[in-house]
Amino acid sequence: MSEARGIKSLLKRAVHRALRPGLWPLMQQMAHLEARLDNQATRLQAINRRTEPWTKSLDGLPDRLDRIEASLERLTHSNLARDKHQDELAYWRWLIKTEEGRASLYAPFETAFGRWQRDRLRELATALGLDETSIAHTGNGSVNGESHAIDAALDAWCAGQSVVELGAGPYPAIAAAPAWRRAVAVDPLAKSYVEEGLLAGAAEHITYIESSAEHVPLPPGFADLVVMDNALDHVTDPGAVLDEVLRLLRPGGLFWVLVDLSTHKDHMHPNPFDEVRIRYLIREKGFEVVTDRVSGHKSHPSAYGEYRALLRRPDTRSELEVVISEAIRRGAVRRGLHA
Ligand SMILES: C[S@@+](CC[C@H](N)C(=O)[O-])C[C@H]1O[C@@H](n2cnc3c(N)ncnc32)[C@H](O)[C@@H]1O
Repeated sequence: MSEARGIKSLLKRAVHRALRPGLWPLMQQMAHLEARLDNQATRLQAINRRTEPWTKSLDGLPDRLDRIEASLERLTHSNLARDKHQDELAYWRWLIKTEEGRASLYAPFETAFGRWQRDRLRELATALGLDETSIAHTGNGSVNGESHAIDAALDAWCAGQSVVELGAGPYPAIAAAPAWRRAVAVDPLAKSYVEEGLLAGAAEHITYIESSAEHVPLPPGFADLVVMDNALDHVTDPGAVLDEVLRLLRPGGLFWVLVDLSTHKDHMHPNPFDEVRIRYLIREKGFEVVTDRVSGHKSHPSAYGEYRALLRRPDTRSELEVVISEAIRRGAVRRGLHA
């Protein structure tokens, strides 16, 4: 401070003090506080300068944490899926290749599964009304004669259909018919079934594709009939699978589905269904119910029954719905927007 300014300030203070003696202590206190504030501001600036690099590096942290969380989730999912597939495969190996597994069936694997799968197709024939027409045509009243007529009508019907079975296993239901127009079995374990010699001889006329049912590498409208027995509770995303079924079916095409009813959830059965949940999902996706039933029969020991239905893809599915489901399949639209 120059000498002149120093003298001026001293004079100013003396005048203030003389004119307003009551305010003087207050003014002094304020000057003191101002000086302290200046001091604090300087210290804050110094702290800011030192923490600036840290603040900048924290800027991207939430995004980085989101990315880490997402990749951890993906890792968990793929580990769970791998464990699930390994355990499903271990089950088929045990059933088909080990003494103990074979002994758990009442007959050799091919015989036992051949009968079960044929019975499932016979039930389809009844749901389609093939039994009434065939018996009316043959006029044959005997029990043997009736079942012969149903079998003949069933085989004739199958020979005209393009069929896809999802979650087919090594002895698919569609292997229990001698011929189809086109027949494709989809299972994530297809490659292992072939490599490990687990495929049933009866499935020789079926083409296997290694894929999950959520994304099937077949064109839209490929199938007249989609079959899915005891596999919907095994998949990761049942809603996406039903969207795929609608995409694969031609308008008016049929979906023959069997689901264990259960409240038991584990890594092999990540989506257990009760009657309410399965019926809700079917209605939500817009299928027409041709016929359905609930019975006490079941496949898994912890299930309490099963749901069987013949469903139909409506003829009137709008072009927009088809385009949206195709876009969902390609991952272009988030599923939530469609729901
Ligand atoms: C209980 S087995 C049923 C096999 C056959 N449908 C039957 O009834 O004998 C369930 C099948 O679903 C298959 N699976 C599991 N996850 C799947 C998925 N995401 N998509 C399609 N199939 C799947 C398994 O590999 C297994 O073969």
